[in-house]
Amino acid sequence: MERENFGSKLGAVLAAAGSAVGLGNVWRFPIETGQNGGAAFIIIYILCILLLGLPIMISEFLIGRHTHANTAGAFRIISNGSPWKWVGRMGVFSGWFILCYYVVVGAWTMHYTFLSATNAFDDVPAQQYEDIFNNFVANPWLPTLWLFLFIGVIHFVITQGVRSGIEKSAKLMMPTLFIITIFLAICSVSLPGASRGIEFLLKPDWSKVTSTTVLDAMGQAFYSLSLAMGCLCTYASYFDKKTPLAKSAVNVATIDTLIAIMAGFIIFPSVFNIGMNPNDVGVGAGLTFVSLPNVFQQALGDGSILAVIFSTLFYFLLFVAALTSAISLHEVATAYVTEEFKMSRKKGATLVTVTILVLGTLCSLSFGPLSNVKLFDRNIFSLFDDFSGRFLLPLGGMLISIFAGWILDRKLYHDEISNNGDLKAPYFKLLVASLRYIAPFAIGLVFLDQLGMFDFIKK
Ligand code: PHE
Repeated sequence: MERENFGSKLGAVLAAAGSAVGLGNVWRFPIETGQNGGAAFIIIYILCILLLGLPIMISEFLIGRHTHANTAGAFRIISNGSPWKWVGRMGVFSGWFILCYYVVVGAWTMHYTFLSATNAFDDVPAQQYEDIFNNFVANPWLPTLWLFLFIGVIHFVITQGVRSGIEKSAKLMMPTLFIITIFLAICSVSLPGASRGIEFLLKPDWSKVTSTTVLDAMGQAFYSLSLAMGCLCTYASYFDKKTPLAKSAVNVATIDTLIAIMAGFIIFPSVFNIGMNPNDVGVGAGLTFVSLPNVFQQALGDGSILAVIFSTLFYFLLFVAALTSAISLHEVATAYVTEEFKMSRKKGATLVTVTILVLGTLCSLSFGPLSNVKLFDRNIFSLFDDFSGRFLLPLGGMLISIFAGWILDRKLYHDEISNNGDLKAPYFKLLVASLRYIAPFAIGLVFLDQLGMFDFIKK
């Protein structure tokens, strides 16, 4: 069967940006920025993107586009069947593994969009938001229902194919996401007292920067750019020979960073508006599903139409961001099973979907009926989250940089990024230097940090 391609360069960039822009941009980046010295953190983060993130992203693009195969196939072909092929297989596994818990949060965003749209937060006392969230996730049925719906949407898009499914949906969803983000940021910034939120976010405070800040920035950059999960490699396998790899990577990273910064402009001005301490709003789920619904109601008028619109759009934004990322993760596994086991796309996608339904449900139930099932003191959800984020992600990133920097043929690398001499690549030497020396070393540090090796310094 003929392998599909993205129909346009714009479609290719939007699809990859859809993978990158996800929950991480909204529920982690703004808080990390606020707590780690504002603009100082942003500057360090951007340096991490430039020095580490982009070289690895370009390498993933290159391996995918050169081989036009799923990530496992791509690494097998490009490494001539040497043991480096395992890096590709690991990428497929990591993407699939992350998807199992990512869909659970995607489902929560749907529920909160629904609650916001039906004005369910009207008149809710501040201390009750935590109960609302805890009761919801502990319920055996409701989160599972949303989970099936969320996975159903992913499945639908994937079975439509690369062009009519992934590319078309990205072309629709990414502009929607930009517009909502800009609208919400403008609304939040025009609230009374917003300037303190803006200051909190943008004033560089270098005194807060420590070695941990740098490690956090690196970890966040990798997660946010969707590195080492097979996503970028798989999407790039649908790029055509004329797609400029480095330029596309720069575009994806720029979109991802801008959305993350704008998410900060949505969150902090509202938080300061109601006089809340930004250190008390929490991170991740606590921030998103406990603090923010309350912040929005109070900042915009409890039960007011403005609060309904703002809150609904915010959770819808999260939903879209999570959906496009989840689609990219599903595609990694779908491309793998369809190509490696010679199945039709429909069959392959269904197989992947069934496994996600089962494991996603287990992750989802780990907040309720399965909350007692624990390993290493973590529930099933946290096991999936921590193992993929703390272990698979840095390990994969390090192996990709070593492979691209030390093993991959330099001429092949240069030919690919210059599109066989059509484009200039003045950054080539820096790129190779980063892949050979800077990235493996820096990621090695993140890796050790994630495993808790530096905890004694942080105390
Ligand atoms: N980049 C996504 C985010 O910021 C998460 C993700 C990681 C998606 C890896 C796909 C692969 O939320």
